[in-house]
Amino acid sequence: MNILILGGGGREHSLAWAVLQNPKCDRLVVAPGNAGIAAIADCASIDIEDGGAVANFVEEEAIDFVIIGPEAPLAAGVADRLRDAGVLVFGPSQAAAELEASKAFTKAICDAAKAPTAAYGHFTDAGAAKAYVQAQGAPIVVKADGLAAGKGVIIAETVAEAEAAIDDMFGGGFGAAGAEVVIEEFMTGEEASFFVLCDGTDVLPIGTAQDHKRVGEGDTGPNTGGMGAYSPAPVLTDAVAERALEEIIRPTMAEMARRSTPYQGVLYAGLMIEDGAPRLVEYNVRFGDPECQVLMMRLGAQALDLMHAAAEGRLAQAQVNWADDHAITVVMAAKGYPGSYDKGAVIGGLDALPATSSQIVFHAGTAQRDGTIVVAGGRVLNVTARGSSLAEAAERAYALVEAMDFPGGFYRADIGWRALGGKG
Ligand code: AMP
Ligand code: GLY
Repeated sequence: MNILILGGGGREHSLAWAVLQNPKCDRLVVAPGNAGIAAIADCASIDIEDGGAVANFVEEEAIDFVIIGPEAPLAAGVADRLRDAGVLVFGPSQAAAELEASKAFTKAICDAAKAPTAAYGHFTDAGAAKAYVQAQGAPIVVKADGLAAGKGVIIAETVAEAEAAIDDMFGGGFGAAGAEVVIEEFMTGEEASFFVLCDGTDVLPIGTAQDHKRVGEGDTGPNTGGMGAYSPAPVLTDAVAERALEEIIRPTMAEMARRSTPYQGVLYAGLMIEDGAPRLVEYNVRFGDPECQVLMMRLGAQALDLMHAAAEGRLAQAQVNWADDHAITVVMAAKGYPGSYDKGAVIGGLDALPATSSQIVFHAGTAQRDGTIVVAGGRVLNVTARGSSLAEAAERAYALVEAMDFPGGFYRADIGWRALGGKG
C-alpha cells in the first residue's frame, strides 16, 4: 500500500513511525512533514488544505490510502474531495467535521442524542449573551463557536470577566470563529481524553490519555497546545469508558448517521469525569497532539490496520491487541512559547539518542538547515517512551530529555504527576 499522511507535527511523525512498522506499507509520503519525518519518509510540499491539489498528488504518486492528521484539511473538505475521486481516506467529511468546527453544532447533536454535557446557551448577539450570563452567574465558560486554535475558550471566574469575553468575541477578537458564541455551565471533575475509531456505524476504542495544557509545572500559566501526555488515563476506568460509549459516543454516531452525515475517522472525546460519571466537554475530529504520540507508541504497527479498517467500514471485525503498558510524552518547547519565540535555534545531541520501540524523540516543530536540526515551531520535540508502569515510562523519557543539547528549549518536569501520585 502507498500511503500519504497529511500534516507536519509530532502527531504526524508518530503516525508515520507506526505506519512504517507495518509490512503492508510499501511507500510512505508525508505532506508537508518536518525534519524528523524526512529522516524516515518522503516529504512533499503540497497545500494540504487544497483538496484539488491533494487529489492530483494522490493520482500522480499512485497513493492508495490517505490519513489526514490535522483538523484544518478536514474542516476544508479535503476528505470529501478525495472520496469523490475514489480515494480511500481516513478522516471525516466536512459535514461530520462540524463536531469540532462548531461548538453550537456539537451541543445540538448532544441534545438530539441525549448525551450528558454542560448546560448551555447559543448566541449571535452580545446583549442576549450577557443577559444569560447575568441570569446564570459565575464561574461560567464563554466559547467562540468556530475553530480558534484552542484559544477560543474563556473560563470566567466572575460575571464581569464573562461580559468582557463576550465583548471581545463579538468585537472580532477571535475573527470569524467568534461570530457566534456558546456559553456553558462550568463543569467540575477530572478531565481525560477518550479516543475511538468510527467507520460510520461501529466504534472501536483505541485508548485513553490525559494531557497537560498549561505551560508551567503544577498546571500553572497560560494554555498551550499541550506540554505532555500519558496513556492510559487512570480516571477513565473501564466502567467510565463503557458509560461514555453507551451514553455519549454511540448516540452521537447514531445521530450523525441519522442526519446522513456518518462519521468516519478517529473521534477524540474530551470528557469531564465526576463520581464515575462522564460528561462531554468537546469533540475533536482528529488525534490529539501530543496524545497521538502516546497512543501510537502503545499501538505500534496495528495502528495502520485499525485506521484502514475504519476507512473500509470493517471495524465490526477489528480488535485491538492491547499490551499492558504505559506511555508518556514530554514536549520540549522553544523558550518563550506559547508567546513569541525565536526560530532557528540549533538542537544538538539528537543523533546520539536511541530510537527503539519503547523510546523515541518525535519531531514537532523542526526544520533542517545546513545539515543541522533547528527550531521551526513553538512545540519542537516530543520525547516519548513506554514502560510496564507510568513511572518506568517517565524515567525513560526524562533520561532522553536530559541527554539532549537544546539550550533554547524548556520542558515540564512533572508530566504525569496526577497519575504518578505527585503534587505537580
Ligand atoms: P475546549 O476547547 O472546549 O476543549 O475547551 C478547552 C478547555 O477548557 C477544556 O479542555 C477544559 O479544560 C475547559 N473547559 C471547556 N468547557 C468547560 C466547561 N463547560 N466546564 C469546565 N471546563 C471547561
Ligand atoms: N492536545 C490537545 C489537542 O490536540 O487538542
